[in-house]
Amino acid sequence: MICLGIESTAHTFGVGVSGDWGEILANVKSHYKPPKSWGIDPTKAREYHEKNADAVIKKAIKESHIKKPDLIAVATGPGIPPCLLVGLKKAKELAKKWKIPLVSVNHAIAHLEIGKFNSNFKDPIMLYVSGGNTQIIAFQEGKYRIFGETQDIGIGNLLDSFGRKTGLDFPAGPKIEKLAKKGKKYVEMPYSVKGMDVSFSGTSTKLKKLIEKEDLENVCYSLQETCFAMLVEITERAMAHTNKNELILTGGVAANKRLQEMCRIMCEERGANFNAPKIELAGDNGAMISWNGILARKNATKNYETVDINPKWRADEVKITWR
Ligand code: ATP
Ligand code: FE2
Repeated sequence: MICLGIESTAHTFGVGVSGDWGEILANVKSHYKPPKSWGIDPTKAREYHEKNADAVIKKAIKESHIKKPDLIAVATGPGIPPCLLVGLKKAKELAKKWKIPLVSVNHAIAHLEIGKFNSNFKDPIMLYVSGGNTQIIAFQEGKYRIFGETQDIGIGNLLDSFGRKTGLDFPAGPKIEKLAKKGKKYVEMPYSVKGMDVSFSGTSTKLKKLIEKEDLENVCYSLQETCFAMLVEITERAMAHTNKNELILTGGVAANKRLQEMCRIMCEERGANFNAPKIELAGDNGAMISWNGILARKNATKNYETVDINPKWRADEVKITWR
């Protein structure tokens, strides 16, 4: 079975093609880049996706050397409604054209499943850190469950909004990482862990005050050290509570070498295994949707009108038919 998967939950319009055994035949994407002064504009992102969708689909089919897939998968949530609708519309068009079933996929679980496949881990905990999302997810008693998450903004959005205020180009994460390496002095930052959750709004407020008086390199260094320590603390607690000994770090922020290092050290100290997939699979991409489509093929339907977007779809609400 060959599945074509469409990702359009936020910035990325991605199309992947996967085979039964997880082989990736294509993984093509285009990114909407938000303006310098503010974050993602849903209307602009939608227009961008509408403009680029057909070319990305065409390229993925060409690269995969297939005539037509057997199944279409589409990420229907969580995400930004206008963006999600572009992916769903394209997915329905293709499924109708080829008269093949359509399956809806949860974006967060797709991140986890591609990370699990890529690492060969059996039952990992996932620390999912991106622009809009910061969550710890793992499988327990028949469901994927959210063990901890941000109570306000995602870690990536915190980095990007700080970047906008200090004139760093989008995405700010890589620039902050570079500056942080040169930081020498630790500047006090809010350390906000509440049970299994974290909160970054206090950090955001503090950063606004620090910009004028502190050296940017020191602020970047302290920001990373504090926020990443918060994430590693709740991740370690989730591993201890669930008795799991494999960790996957994923999402766009997973590209950060310092965060990878902190996760690796924590895992080594617990005798656990750690993996961070390469960025093509860690950031938003179509291949994770096509692979999750293969796994979830039992949920596929030809009653296309029953498939809709679900912008607030949480990982623990997903029907898991493949584990
Ligand atoms: P989602 O829809 O899952 O929330 P997204 O649209 O935010 O995803 P991703 O590609 O998963 O897209 O993540 C982008 C985020 O990753 C941005 O906030 C960016 O600043 C951050 N990022 C990228 N590289 C780094 C890095 N080296 N260090 C820290 N953050 C990074
Ligand atoms: Fe994502």
